[in-house]
Amino acid sequence: MREHVLLIGGGGREHAIARALEDSEAELYACAGNKNPGIARIAADFETVETTDPEAVVEYAESVDATIAVVGPEAPLEAGISDALEAAGVYPFGPKRDDARIETDKAFQRRFMRDHEVPGNPDFETFDDAEAACTFIDEYGGDLAIKPAGLTGGKGVKVVGDQVTAEEGKAYIRESDYDRIVLEERLIGEEFTVQAFVANGEFRTAPAVQDHKRAYEGDEGPNTGGMGSYSDATNELPFMTEEDYDDAVSIIEATVDALDDYRGILYGQFMLTAEGPKVIEFNARFGDPEAMNTLPVLETDFLEILTTARDGDAPPELEFAERATVCKYAVPAGYPTDPEAGAKVQVDEESAGDALLYYASVDQRDDGIYTTTSRSFALVGVADSIGEAEAIAEDALAVAGEEGLHVRHDIGKADLVQRRIDHVNELRGE
Ligand code: AMP
Ligand code: GLY
Repeated sequence: MREHVLLIGGGGREHAIARALEDSEAELYACAGNKNPGIARIAADFETVETTDPEAVVEYAESVDATIAVVGPEAPLEAGISDALEAAGVYPFGPKRDDARIETDKAFQRRFMRDHEVPGNPDFETFDDAEAACTFIDEYGGDLAIKPAGLTGGKGVKVVGDQVTAEEGKAYIRESDYDRIVLEERLIGEEFTVQAFVANGEFRTAPAVQDHKRAYEGDEGPNTGGMGSYSDATNELPFMTEEDYDDAVSIIEATVDALDDYRGILYGQFMLTAEGPKVIEFNARFGDPEAMNTLPVLETDFLEILTTARDGDAPPELEFAERATVCKYAVPAGYPTDPEAGAKVQVDEESAGDALLYYASVDQRDDGIYTTTSRSFALVGVADSIGEAEAIAEDALAVAGEEGLHVRHDIGKADLVQRRIDHVNELRGE
């Protein structure tokens, strides 16, 4: 029988997963809160479902005879979607609720690294009491990152000395009423992501990717879910050495070893500091946008990765095309603080040219495609070099239409990449 794969989630990351399964032997079904036109076109059926409602997802999975499920976003993982699917006899490629705490509970994540002596953990303290956290800020000798322990869509972290002063940081803690706060050493360096496919105690890593969290060009403005990202034709990025990549892989290895039977994607977000890679966070799923860099160059059949995981085998060795990628998101005006939802999006798909177009958090209705409060669509260039890939993405944006939307045009451009290289050289005293 053909595998029936259920894809959960309706963003750009999930459109990339759908594309990765499009040419495989699987029959694809999809469900999400928004109707993503790109996924809907590829899937045999698309159902609008609240994906944080495990019962509703299981009901849909059973109705389409799903054999395997791929969970895109973190919120369904936190809601226990994998536990519910497994109980219903559907193999979930995505961690169970307890394992997903590596992402969904940052206090757990830091303690887990400390208790298992995983390298790359910054100094940290956790607080249940806002005033105790504020006192710690006053008494600590340096800059700190202030992190709510729970999920905030990448938008809850405030870094003292970067985005806020110590006084602003304390005001943020007092005003926001989070249950638990993690305060940790501010890491200085360049960020990068390494994603690993994990199953049955083994893992395989993908080339490093660099996302751009800040909303505006030149890394200004508030943090977002990620405005765009690039990867190179090798495992490393231009500001990294092979050893830096290998050090990040060793941190992932120590984490996979310490986790008991984790399965799905383990996403390591690293800061390349003067002392090498340190962990900013782990995610329990592909990155968005990073999946749009990684999956288009994955040459191994994604279905084979899923079936080997389900069958209790080690993942296949992965092949990646030696190509660079640049991804740029078009987001609603005002995103992330005051996003304009419900605006009509005009995308001329034919004009995307050589670029790959991924729909994200838009909603397809009878009379067109509309923005939601999150990122709308992305264009990805794939080429031999980052510069060529950037030009492809940029040309496609110009013609495919970004009217009323906001784009960070600087992502993947030579001068921004050079600034990353210079930054690391400066940290290393070169
Ligand atoms: P997170 O939600 O943990 O990914 O954090 C969002 C962003 O905050 C990261 O992408 C970093 O830019 C920044 N950040 C988080 N932790 C630290 C840290 N310890 N030092 C410096 N920056 C950090
Ligand atoms: N791009 C960051 C994330 O997916 O969390």
